[in-house]
Amino acid sequence: MEYRELGNTGEMVPEIGLGTWKYRGGPEPLQKGIDLGANLIDTAEMYKTEDAVGAAIKGRRSEVFLATKVLGSNLRHDAVMRAAETSLHLLDEDVLDLYQIHWSNPSIPISETMGAMEELVDRGMVRYIGVSNFSMIEMQEAQQAMTKYPIVSNQVLYNLKRRDIERELIPYCVDNHITIIAYTPLADGSLSGNSRYRPDKGDSVLNQVAQETDKTAAQVALNWCLSRPNVIVIPKSDSINRTIENCEASGWSLSPQQVTALDEAYPA
Ligand SMILES: NC(=O)c1ccc[n+]([C@@H]2O[C@H](COP(=O)([O-])OP(=O)(O)OC[C@H]3O[C@@H](n4cnc5c(N)ncnc54)[C@H](OP(=O)(O)O)[C@@H]3O)[C@@H](O)[C@H]2O)c1
Repeated sequence: MEYRELGNTGEMVPEIGLGTWKYRGGPEPLQKGIDLGANLIDTAEMYKTEDAVGAAIKGRRSEVFLATKVLGSNLRHDAVMRAAETSLHLLDEDVLDLYQIHWSNPSIPISETMGAMEELVDRGMVRYIGVSNFSMIEMQEAQQAMTKYPIVSNQVLYNLKRRDIERELIPYCVDNHITIIAYTPLADGSLSGNSRYRPDKGDSVLNQVAQETDKTAAQVALNWCLSRPNVIVIPKSDSINRTIENCEASGWSLSPQQVTALDEAYPA
């Protein structure tokens, strides 16, 4: 597993982490991922998987970089505090490595929310502050509302079929040393060459590159995300074998020609 720096923190996180939305795999797939170095686990109060994550990492907390999220409807100061306490309780932990705002909420002053997030760091309940589904302008406003700590990450939709963030968000995050945590990097499994999904016109190129590299289509799709600066990915899998497969998307690189062929096959 290769690692990338989280924001400007000096903390190294794996370029393949483990997503847990709709996760039903029990402890083993997550534990296998940790064994393989995919030790960033992403959950959220919304997913109702914090207790499953807590159970999977029992006794292995020091190996794991634990990320969760507060709901966009819980962004008043006291609601943020309560949500963090509840997440820690469900995870059965004392500290969250990364606490992310799941999505923005224009009806609540951003200074109130970011003040609460900074307070969580001051209280030792959270190590780093991140956001999710924030536009570039929302990120700027959130950072301006903070007085002590940086926003280290933005978790956003990114895969071969959904490349909207390339226009504005990736350049902004590169310039400001912010990690992009790419969610749904397999387009919900449809970038895996599996015939049960409606074929996309780019799929023949994806399969061709998979053949050339002797990798699976899913591995190529994940590695393509990693060809972008500041990006890490968090595929979800309930299966041990697919978790191993996804972890093996790290440690090698597509050639520049293969990246270009994929860019052209799935235009932004
Ligand atoms: N911040 C947000 O708003 C937000 C939104 C969506 C997702 N997320 C995060 O991002 C994570 C990943 O996104 P996602 O779950 O939406 O989608 P995803 O990771 O793109 O796709 C997950 C689907 O792909 C299948 N899959 C996984 N590995 C595979 C492989 N190697 N070959 C074939 N199929 C494979 C999984 O099935 P099996 O489980 O059966 O393997 C599952 O059905 C989430 O779990 C969550 O942590 C965040």
